[in-house]
Order: sequence, then structure tokens, then C-alpha cells
Amino acid sequence: MAHADILPRLIALRDEIRRHDYLYYVKDHPEISDSQYDRLFRELVELEQAHPELVTPDSPSQRVGAPPLQELVKVPHEQPMLSLDSIIEQSEVEAFDLRMKRELETPSVEYSAEPKFDGLSVELMYDHGIFIRGATRGDGTTGEDVTVNLRTIRSLPLQLHARSNLPDHLVVRGEVYMRLDDFQALNRRITERGDNAFANPRNAASGSLRQLDSTITATRPLVVTCYEIMAVSTPVPPTHWDELETLAQWGLPAPALRRLCASIDEVMAFHRETESMRDQLPYEIDGVVVKVNRRDWQGRLGMKSRSPRWAIAYKFTPRKEITIVQEIVVSVGRTGTLTPVALLKQPRCITPMKWRGKTFGSAIPSR
Ligand code: IVH
Repeated sequence: MAHADILPRLIALRDEIRRHDYLYYVKDHPEISDSQYDRLFRELVELEQAHPELVTPDSPSQRVGAPPLQELVKVPHEQPMLSLDSIIEQSEVEAFDLRMKRELETPSVEYSAEPKFDGLSVELMYDHGIFIRGATRGDGTTGEDVTVNLRTIRSLPLQLHARSNLPDHLVVRGEVYMRLDDFQALNRRITERGDNAFANPRNAASGSLRQLDSTITATRPLVVTCYEIMAVSTPVPPTHWDELETLAQWGLPAPALRRLCASIDEVMAFHRETESMRDQLPYEIDGVVVKVNRRDWQGRLGMKSRSPRWAIAYKFTPRKEITIVQEIVVSVGRTGTLTPVALLKQPRCITPMKWRGKTFGSAIPSR
């Protein structure tokens, strides 16, 4: 290839691969076969190997390969990463609606409702459309820098879609989690080589994202969904619903399952319907998050010390099944957190897990 043609070819290849990554990992709708994709990827890698001076950090080839870290560096969040108050009873959601109407002095409030993903919360930072940093929530004020690990997640764009007007600076919040079938396959792989299984998809996602060696993270089937703009240098969309639309236009994975609700009754219907399809979903959710749709109203409602007043986690009734606790084991997290795990007689409960060669159901206290 003539030297003058190399850069345009590299740019075209990267754009094309990014588009196919988006179609495959975000839209779930691939246009080309795996082998066609592999051919494009190989061509990119070979060209970059021949011209290392032309490699850019946002190239799809640069998702893996960062050297292992000594430790996860602590980073302060630009905005505090708040938590959500949880409710479970219908009367509590009605009380929430009455509170919103009273404080906003309005007869009706529109809500945006979406799943409460059971994973771990992350902050993603984009400068001029390029992914530059990502961190875990940590204590809400300070998190851990997991940028290199997040880069391995294929549904996370390293570069936002350039066509829509991109902000110079953008901080987005999302959730990293694992699909149930991927989680089970991962646990099989882990137990086959004699290691202890993860108790549930959330622990698996957290353990995988908080690795020091990103080549390990790259082998873990993590996905991300974004649900909040935390800071942006351009005007913020006027509603949460528009916010999710905007995230999707930028090429970020936003919750596909969501509903704009004109009243709290519609929120309750969405909660009911979502709960009834919970077992058919490919990932774990433990409720729906209900948010006052208008951002100016969110601003008026403000927040308490750890959670916003304008949103609530409307949890599902805990799953019920009668079984026998055979053993209680304590799983030790990386930071020394101790989590009691009940090993149950029937392996059906939640997700089967292997412990010392035997299969159990597992249950851990919910958040
Ligand atoms: S909104 C200020 N939306 O739930 C708004 N959180 O119990 C803060 N979560 O730590 C969060 N799905 O990790 C929001 N659709 C969703 C969510 C969600 C899962 C998590 C989040 C948070 C926890 C609160």
C-alpha cells in the first residue's frame, strides 16, 4: 500500500470496526459475520504493527494490552455519586408520588422508569468524545480508577458518535454487570480449574472490573448500560427521557427497557410488567428506578445527604422458595468485606453455584 494511503485506510478501518462493535454489542444486531469482522480487525492490527507511530488510544485495537497495575488508584469524583432510597410496598410508592406533588406544588408529575440493574456503578468521562477515564463509585466521593479495565468492555465506546454535536466534556454514570448465561459459563470455567465460583453475577462483575491485570478483565464477559449524565459542558437535556435519548445518540448503551409514565399508576404497571418478565431477562434486575422526568424539577427537589429526593428504587418482592440451608460460608472480598453466603439444598435458587465440587443454590443478603 502506498504510504499516502495508509492513514486514510487506518481511519476507515477503525470507523468501520467501531460501527460493527456498536451494532453487535450495543444494538445486538450485527451486519457482518464473525469471520468478516475478524478479517477487518486483523487488517487493522497488521497495519498498526507495521506503523506503530500511527496507533491512537481510541483505536479498537487498544482495548487490551495495558501493563498490570500495582494498585487501583483512588480518584475523587467530579460530582458525588449518590445512592438511591429503596422502597418495596405500593403504599410507599404512592407516598413518594404525593411527596413529589406536594413539594413541586403540582397536580401531576411525569416519571421516567427503567430497570435497576444489579451490578456496580461506574463513572465514565469523555473529553471531546474520547473515553479518557472511568472509576468505580467507591464511597460516593472517591472511587477507584478502573479506566484500563473499562476499556476492555466492548459495549463501551472508546469514541462517541461524531455526527451528533459532542460536548467537550462529559461525565456519565452507568452500571457494569454480567449476563446470566455468561456468568454461569464463567463460573463453570473457574470451578473447572479448581477455583471458587462467584456467588452471583454482581460479585462476578465487581471482581472482574477491579482486577489489577486488565488482560484478566478482558476475558470476563462484562457489559455496561448508561443511565445518567452527571456533568456536561453543553446544555443538559430538559428531561431524563431526553437524557437517555441523547446518550443513545452519542452511541452509549442506554436502557432499552424503559417507560415514560404520565402518572404513578403507569409506574406501578411498568413495575408489575417488568417483575413478571424478570426471569426472562438475560440479566439480573432487582427493581425499577423511578425518576421525576423534568430536570428542572429534579433540581428543585434537590438531594439529601446520600440520595436524590427525585428518584427512588422501587424494588421487587424478594424471590421466595422453601429450601434447606446446608451451610453458611463467608466470602472475602478484595477489600476485606465479608459476605455471608447461604448454600441451599435446591440448586434452582437464583443461580447455581459450585462449592467444593458440589452444586448448590446460593443466597446472599440483598443490598
Ligand atoms: S440512578 C442520582 N439508575 O442502584 C441517581 N441507579 O441503590 C443515582 N442502579 O448505586 C443512580 N440501575 O448503582 C440509577 N437505572 C438506574 C440504576 C441505578 C442500577 C444502581 C446504582 C446505585 C444503586 C442504588
